[in-house]
Amino acid sequence: MWIYEKKLEYPISIKRSNPKLAKIIIEQYGGPDGELAASMRYLSQKFTMVTPEARALLNDIGTEELAHLEMIGAMVTQLTQNATRKEIMDAGLDPNYVNHGLAIYPQSAAGIPWTASYIQSKGDPVSDLYEDMAAEEKARSTYEYLIDLMDDPDVIEPLRFLREREIVHTQRFGEALRYVKEYFDSKRMFY
Ligand SMILES: [Fe+2]
Repeated sequence: MWIYEKKLEYPISIKRSNPKLAKIIIEQYGGPDGELAASMRYLSQKFTMVTPEARALLNDIGTEELAHLEMIGAMVTQLTQNATRKEIMDAGLDPNYVNHGLAIYPQSAAGIPWTASYIQSKGDPVSDLYEDMAAEEKARSTYEYLIDLMDDPDVIEPLRFLREREIVHTQRFGEALRYVKEYFDSKRMFY
């Protein structure tokens, strides 16, 4: 089960409305390498991890990714809530507006709805952990591309925090890969 804590993992306080930035930051909400995909990937894969440590790690990181999803949702909301008609039109957000208003919808920056086909849950812990490390690296590079395009420190700081977390996750999945491989090696010795 989960217990919800009513605060963001890192504070989001964006003073200037900027729908152009919101339009691309949504990539990390519902894009292929975004936080929703990360969370669903790890929280699905955890059931077939072979060691309690690996199961717990996927659970922890999958949960943290949900907190990151919430941060991205808060950023997009703050960047759009007070946007003018002109700002929405100039940002090219009008097609999104007619479908969703200013709601948060899980989609990529290109407007493609989130799909489970972005993720794999293979039932093979080694394959899954390699996928997880690749996913973290792809999320890191997406955050770096986003930071390249930002001009507001209120937006850049939380994106930097999220980028750092991806690096930590890659390292922790690397450790899990080592002990899962050790587990399989030790099992082989008994036969
Ligand atoms: Fe991550």
